[in-house]
Amino acid sequence: MRRGKKVSIIGAGHVGSTVAYSLALQGTAHEIVLLDSKPDIAMGKALDMSQAAAVLRMHTKVKVAVTAKDLADSDIVVISAGTPRKPGMSRDDLLAANAETVRSISKQIRENCANPMVIVVTNPLDAMTYVALRECGFDRRQVIGMAGLLDSGRMASFIYEKLGYGSGQIRAMVLGGHGDSMAPLHRYSTVAGVPLTDFLSGAEIAEIVKRTRGAGAEIVGYLQSGSAYYAPAIATAQMCETILRDAKQIYPCAVLLEGEYDYRNVVIGVPIVLGANGVEKIIEVTLNKEEKDEFAKSVASVKTLINKLFEMGFYVQ
Ligand code: 2OP
Repeated sequence: MRRGKKVSIIGAGHVGSTVAYSLALQGTAHEIVLLDSKPDIAMGKALDMSQAAAVLRMHTKVKVAVTAKDLADSDIVVISAGTPRKPGMSRDDLLAANAETVRSISKQIRENCANPMVIVVTNPLDAMTYVALRECGFDRRQVIGMAGLLDSGRMASFIYEKLGYGSGQIRAMVLGGHGDSMAPLHRYSTVAGVPLTDFLSGAEIAEIVKRTRGAGAEIVGYLQSGSAYYAPAIATAQMCETILRDAKQIYPCAVLLEGEYDYRNVVIGVPIVLGANGVEKIIEVTLNKEEKDEFAKSVASVKTLINKLFEMGFYVQ
């Protein structure tokens, strides 16, 4: 009989392997399994990480899956495989290539895992979460897109950069899709519980909002041949920890709406309570007119991507 917690990560590139590394150092998961199209590279990384965990006297074992059958009994499966964007590309440009990848991974998950939580990291994130949800056939509480925690972390780091104090006391909130029209909500962003507007001018807040929307592209511009991975991976690992510990934390995550916020059949970032059962509650934040409009714009852009999947013949209604 299996004991302990198992997290499988499909796609052991920069993001996937950094998720594995973060989890290995935290020690909550007993077993981490990497499944990648380059098993030798994955094996080198897995050995290295297991040894790093041993230095910290952690017991986490990092292994490589030989076949998809090794995903069996996973408590969580992270989907991080796919092509990252290059400078000048938007996340949406990855739709066709990554939808195929996520579809075939979801089939492997469905065939080999009984009842896991699935965290999607592959871009364009909201549309890929929609694909995973349809292809896995699991309950919507089980299939969750990562990015709200990442985007809120980025906004918090820009607030800290501007203020120069309050680190650790900053709570930022970004809703909507993980795309150029994401909705950073400054009204729900605080420092030590004090609204951001008491610290910063409208122009300064607007600058932070703009930089948050472009934060992924800013990093792609520097890296040239890949996208960010430390913050995306830490946000994913944090979600895994929260599920494994049943910590019931509130994070913005991409989930399928079925009437919440008056939208249906779209995956979009909203605050949820995350726990051992995945999405334990969807929180409907009161939005003012301007925030509703921003959120609507973001929903429309994700819906356009989902519709493209239908136009491409990826799905029939
Ligand atoms: C980012 O925003 C890769 O989408 C990810 O950096």
